[in-house]
Parts: sequence; C-alpha cells; structure tokens
Amino acid sequence: MNIALIGATGAVGREMLRELEKSPFIQGDTELSLFASERSQGQFLRFRERSLKVRNVTELSGDRFDFVLMSAGSHVSCEYAPILAAHGAIVIDNSSAFRMDEDVPLVVPEVNGSVLAGLTSGIIANPNCSTIQLVVSLCPLQRLAGLETVILSTYQSVSGSGQKGIDELSRQLHSDVRTPDVYPQPIAFNVISHIGALTEGGPCEEELKIIRESRKILNLPDLSVLVTTARVPVYHCHCESVVVQLQQAVDLAEVDRAFGSMPGLICHAPDLSVEELPSPYHCTERPEVFVSRLRLLWGEHRSRWLQYWNVADNLKKGAATNAVQIMEQVLRQRQL
Ligand code: A2P
Repeated sequence: MNIALIGATGAVGREMLRELEKSPFIQGDTELSLFASERSQGQFLRFRERSLKVRNVTELSGDRFDFVLMSAGSHVSCEYAPILAAHGAIVIDNSSAFRMDEDVPLVVPEVNGSVLAGLTSGIIANPNCSTIQLVVSLCPLQRLAGLETVILSTYQSVSGSGQKGIDELSRQLHSDVRTPDVYPQPIAFNVISHIGALTEGGPCEEELKIIRESRKILNLPDLSVLVTTARVPVYHCHCESVVVQLQQAVDLAEVDRAFGSMPGLICHAPDLSVEELPSPYHCTERPEVFVSRLRLLWGEHRSRWLQYWNVADNLKKGAATNAVQIMEQVLRQRQL
C-alpha cells in the first residue's frame, strides 16, 4: 500500500502520523510519503522505527497513491486533491474545500460510514472538528427518538487554528505584548465570541459549517441548528453545551442506553465527582467523544428536551483519528 500525508508537519498532520503508527492496516511494506510546504522540505519525521524525509508538495507529479491524507489548508486541497483522485487515490481531505460538494461524501464512520461502501477512488471530506463531536452524540439520539432542534454553544481551543493558534496563545501567555496576529483580539485571558469571519446576517463561518455539515452527515436537510461558536484560551479539546429537542419523549435510562451503544462515545454516569467531570484537562490525547451532565428539561421522568456537555480532542476525533478511521473503514469494507 502506498500512502501520502500532505501537511505532515502541521498540528493535524503530526497527529495523523501518530494515528497511522497505531493502525493495524499499516504493515512493514507500506510506503508512506510525507509532504508539506517548501519551509519544511528536507526535515525528518519519525514513523515507528523509521525516519521519513518531508518533501515539498510541488514535487507531487504523476505519483500514484492508494490513500492520500491531506491537512494543508483549502488552497492546497483544491490544487492537488482532484489530481490525486483522478490518478486513482482515495483522498481524505481535512480542509473545508469539498465538504459541501454533493458528490463528495462527508463522513464520520460511526454515524454514516455506510456511504463509503464500494468507493475505490475519489475525495472523501473529513468534517469540521466541532461538527464531528456533535454528530457522534446526536446520532444515537436521532436513532432513539428523532431530532427536532439542536441548540449549542461551543468553547473551542486554539489548536483548531493549527500550529499557529497554539503558538499565538503560548506567546501571549508568556509576554506582556499581546498584539493579535491569528485572531482578531488577544486570545490569552480572553474569550472571542466568533470563529472565522462574520457573514451576512450575523453567523460566523464556523457556525455555518456546523449547521450545514451536521445536516449533511445526519441526512436531515431541515434540521434546526442554532449555534454560537467561541474561541477560548485552551490548547487542546473543544467543549460544547448542547440542548436537543427530540421528536418523541424519552427517559434518562433510554438515553443512557443509546449513548452506551454508540461506538467512540463515553457517557459518564451522573454520580461522577466534580473533579472527574470531563474537561480538556482529562480528554486531551483521547480518541473518544465524552458526554456528561446529562439532564432532562421540562419533564421529571420523560421529556422531549435534553441537555448535556460534550468534550473531545479536536486534533484526535475532531481531525486525525476520524480521517484514519475513514481510511480503515474503506480497507475493512474491501476485505469483506
Ligand atoms: P509547513 O509546516 O511547511 O508550513 P497547521 O494546520 O498546523 O498550520 O499546518 C499546516 C500544514 O500544511 C503544515 O504541514 C504546512 O507545512 C502545510 N502547508 C501550509 N501551506 C502549504 C502550502 N502552500 N503547500 C504545502 N503545504 C502547506
């Protein structure tokens, strides 16, 4: 098998490399080629016992790969993904470039992995980090009682902006000079009320991504999603406060069972101590989505309204883990 990783030196790229290291599908004879920009050309990155040289993405010409994992921004994806796919690769793209294209599957394997059946080449989009952790928690609720409305507020870490976001927070935390570069305001000791540019009518780009992508993944084009996204001075993990209106009333035991049967989701019991409640502190480096503080609203025993707290590592399940799981699911389906 021949795999390429484009954007290998970035925050998500390095995490993808670590996920590939653990993958049982990567054997000793798997060829792995690493690409980034001219800036990183000639650097070496460790992969298991090997030291792999990073090449400039411009050296890609006519190469044929079985899988290409990309996380180098939309520009690079637009330039290279269609060519690589045309040469027969399955391109798993972490940028937002193709996510809403009708003929490009947008995939969270536990939720809609069946759309990968029979795929032999082409582009597969990896969803936005906040969308992934949201739909992993919504999917069991959709199957249990149907979804009517989702209202959420996010608290998103700086690694969602890549290495430059991590560097900016670190610089501002360790200096009195807090001139912003990546964000519109200083991020140290601050909370920024929006992520990405504000669009006409008010929503920011991140909010539009969550609304559109969750509708596509859940196959619910009319789902009401009301969302506010905020950037917080935390390095890793996104948190979400989620309120869901279901189509049918449920009790907590039913919801607990539904969450419990969802792969990749850990739902904490209500008697968890406050010290143990999931937070970025606990969930960094973990591949799962963590749900806690589950409550019924406006109903003592049964209700259509539900509220919970959702945490996941945005570089893991929100990006690299999900991308590698897509690749593994394609390979698993080929073995059937
Ligand atoms: P480089 O490290 O050489 O700049 P992050 O999301 O953490 O910012 O990482 C982005 C990744 O995409 C890095 O690996 C970066 O490489 C790569 N990248 C950014 N711009 C380009 C480009 N124009 N061509 C190829 N790779 C790029």
